[in-house]
Amino acid sequence: MNPVQLISRKRDGAELSAAEIGELIGGYVRGDVPDYQMSAWAMAVFLRGMTTAETAALTDSMLRSGVVFEWAKGGKRKVDKHSSGGIGDKVSIPLAPALAACGLEVPMISGRGLGATGGTLDKLEAIPGLRTNFSIEEAQRISGEVGCVICAASEKLVPADRKLYALRDVTGTVPSIPLITASIMSKKLAEGLDALVLDVKWGSGAFMKSRADAAALATSLVNTGKRMGVPTVALVTDMNQPLGRLAGNAVEIDESVECLQGAGPADLRLLTIELGAELLVATKVASDLASARTKLEKTLDDGSAFAAFERMVAAQGGNLSAPRPRAARVVITAERSGYIQQIDTEALGWAIIELGGGRKQLGDQLDYSTGLEMLVRIGDQVSAGQPLVEIFAGDRGRDSAKRMIQQAITIGDAPVDPPPLIAERIT
Ligand code: URA
Repeated sequence: MNPVQLISRKRDGAELSAAEIGELIGGYVRGDVPDYQMSAWAMAVFLRGMTTAETAALTDSMLRSGVVFEWAKGGKRKVDKHSSGGIGDKVSIPLAPALAACGLEVPMISGRGLGATGGTLDKLEAIPGLRTNFSIEEAQRISGEVGCVICAASEKLVPADRKLYALRDVTGTVPSIPLITASIMSKKLAEGLDALVLDVKWGSGAFMKSRADAAALATSLVNTGKRMGVPTVALVTDMNQPLGRLAGNAVEIDESVECLQGAGPADLRLLTIELGAELLVATKVASDLASARTKLEKTLDDGSAFAAFERMVAAQGGNLSAPRPRAARVVITAERSGYIQQIDTEALGWAIIELGGGRKQLGDQLDYSTGLEMLVRIGDQVSAGQPLVEIFAGDRGRDSAKRMIQQAITIGDAPVDPPPLIAERIT
């Protein structure tokens, strides 16, 4: 293989073969292809795009760059969910135990905060003692014993993505649909899944600001999953306002526990059930979406999902009964009367980071006690002086976060319809 030829052909819009893509990725991971050539190739892909066959070949060669989960034959069906990320998106925390309570196994590899969005691992680590770094063998053992585990990716899993993502981050090549697809799908499919559901968010708090871009990413992810033999469905969902009422770290565990105990906000419960139902149908645990929804609702209402969560937390070393910190409340009120027209949800995420709930720099220590509670939603009518948001804040960043949140919420005279929570289902 001559990397210069592959870069030039991609630059000129040619379709590369699976063997050529495999050689390039293999060479990059071994160190035979230097960063500058890989950057040029990533930029060529960014500008030229990739066919479904090329995207699947890239996913496959990235997946094979490290170890993959091997499962004994005849065990429970393995499933997972991936979300493209948003503010207050805590669905993984109730969903994994609810699926375990339905008899599936969820070996979920999750991430930390990225940009303005929070990360499931950071939220879980707000539970005193809880660990998320396990060897592949330990993660498989917990997942087998409990029915679910939520942990960080081991160094051995998909090293090609670790290297390529860091390169994309500094070469302006992150927002490329085929590169995002291969990055996400290689990590998820390395778990050895029988089915995957994707929650691709669109809106002011999402990576994809337009619904059309989110649908294009969802289609690419679904096509790649299916081409690689894993039943995959995506929901395109709303992120023009936070999911649920609470956003932060410890507060999102509190809200997840409410959901797992049959209560909590309606949107969180609905999305958890809709995403889970896709997996129950894909693995034939339920014959249709209606009966799948009923099964999942039952696990949230009869305590079985919560019991699975308690077992998972204990297996990961956490103490669910230990008090979780919540900083002092500060109320943010409406400056005028009218209707909540728009929420700059990404700005709410940056405000939480300002309070110490997320990282400004790699290695920053998190303050798990901070966050916010939304008291209004898009379309609500409010009066001047009415509380809109409560923040949980110490001294760190409190005044700037207050200003950011005040500016993030647009109140106007005209009533508006809230966007639907689930915009599209892509199969
Ligand atoms: N998340 C990922 O894991 N990879 C990307 O490329 C973008 C978002």
